[in-house]
Amino acid sequence: PRDMLGNRVNSQGLLWSDPPRAEPLLAEMKKSLERLPLAAPIIGGREKADLPAPVTDPSDRTRVIGQVALAGPAEAKEALDLAYKAQGDWDRLGGDGRAKILEHAADLFEQNRASLMALIVREGGKTLPTAISELREAVDFLRYYASEARKNFAPQAMPGPTGESNELTLHGKGVFACISPWNFPLAIFTGQVAGALAAGNAVLAKPAAPTPLIAAAAVRLLHQAGVPVDVLHLLPGSGSKIGAAIFPDPRLAGIVLTGSTEAATVINRALAARDGPIATVIAETGGQNAMIVDSTALPEQVARDAVTSAFDSAGQRCSALRVLFLQDDVADKMLDMVLGAADELRLGDPFDLATDVGPVINESARETLEQHAEKMTRQAKLLKKLPLRPEHKNGVFFPPHVFAIESISVLEREVFGPILHVVRYSAGHLDKVCEAINATGYGLTLGIHTRIESTAAFIRDRVKVGNVYVNRNQIGAVVGVQPFGGEGLSGTGPKAGGPHYLQRMALERTFTVNTT
Ligand code: NAD
Ligand code: ALA
Repeated sequence: PRDMLGNRVNSQGLLWSDPPRAEPLLAEMKKSLERLPLAAPIIGGREKADLPAPVTDPSDRTRVIGQVALAGPAEAKEALDLAYKAQGDWDRLGGDGRAKILEHAADLFEQNRASLMALIVREGGKTLPTAISELREAVDFLRYYASEARKNFAPQAMPGPTGESNELTLHGKGVFACISPWNFPLAIFTGQVAGALAAGNAVLAKPAAPTPLIAAAAVRLLHQAGVPVDVLHLLPGSGSKIGAAIFPDPRLAGIVLTGSTEAATVINRALAARDGPIATVIAETGGQNAMIVDSTALPEQVARDAVTSAFDSAGQRCSALRVLFLQDDVADKMLDMVLGAADELRLGDPFDLATDVGPVINESARETLEQHAEKMTRQAKLLKKLPLRPEHKNGVFFPPHVFAIESISVLEREVFGPILHVVRYSAGHLDKVCEAINATGYGLTLGIHTRIESTAAFIRDRVKVGNVYVNRNQIGAVVGVQPFGGEGLSGTGPKAGGPHYLQRMALERTFTVNTT
């Protein structure tokens, strides 16, 4: 879609509070789940469904929602062989040709929104409002990278001396492995794949273990839109096993990983150790994100934005707020309001429109959160813990917690779930707060709540993070509007949904002709 001036515009949302529009969609979503979808390795367009195992719903582990068959090293190598051979033709199609196919895929995603959203809710455990935002983000990635490919991948004449013509062209680097996380099982999966394809690469897509069904549905739609079956392959399975099969191969031009800092470090080492061309590594990783609130901030706004930033998606966003810094003189009042707003949250089945916080992704995630909460209960002060109820017993629920801690430095690593930590600071010590945030080594998102512009500027100029949000929540970056990604332990860049993303996956060639 375009506006009156011909500019690309992002996709449209849905008013859930409008029953005539919401109810048919909900009914269609439920119906789509009756089919029990399958995720299998998709190699050269063939689905290899050997020994499928059940996939269950994190909000109720007794509910089987589909089947998954895993890829191993043999499938990974076969996919790499096919992708390597097919990439040249895909590159020669040019930016405009690839853009048309990705735009067609965006239309197909929108036409299939009910089944895609149903899987985001049932396989990913995400609430209905976050499911529609995620579908929109995936569609926006497809259309945005299509428009970037069209704009930047046309040959560019380079002015020079007479008697010569000079042209600069961009090309895909080769085969990319796109390795994605489960917390944005459609949006980030699609964003990585669409970016690599738009830039002229062939793709081996490796979804996270908990969310293969959504990935398989997305790959089928991309093939249906016209992405050649030998250019895009799906490898559901263990990251380390698939990685061990393809990382040493010099035909793999690069990887895009969105995931933990730990996984990025392991993968980077494996690629650096191989012989042959140097691989491109694009890593978007975790955060230890803070929000700084001074005494001029509006308490209602702080309460709403802190609670949304910390607990939306059960805190399972890389951008989520982990540490809320409150200025001493207003801390009691602000804290009362934050805890009051947290009390209003409803934990439950994400398919229920009244639910604010769904399950966490799996048992291992819950165990890690429980261990952290136990440690904090011993070392710090528990300010709030929402109750678990009998209806949560079959699901992997972990309720929102709030702890008061002395310093951000007590948190050794990212805590990926609905746990908010609160630190008080004294007026006049903002520079120390900025230093403490930088000392974590992470640099993803930062929230600032102040009515004083110079205070916001003071903080912005000191804290080393990729995305800063003032007087609002700090989640939900919009494609093409708020390019997203961090620095330090939070990643290498380029920013997803930004104008430099495709270039990092492309190489440049200069073509000079003597015209005399
Ligand atoms: P994870 O690191 O466990 O896994 C991410 C992906 O990497 C999965 O597909 C996994 O199978 C694969 N993987 C892991 N080790 C591998 C290896 N050795 N070789 C090959 N592949 C390997 O992360 P997760 O639990 O899926 O996702 C949550 C993490 O992702 C959090 O740390 C979160 O902050 C981060 N994240 C970052 C962003 C961002 O844009 N910066 C966005 C979303 C999530
Ligand atoms: N892009 C996602 C957000 O901003 C991770 O929340």
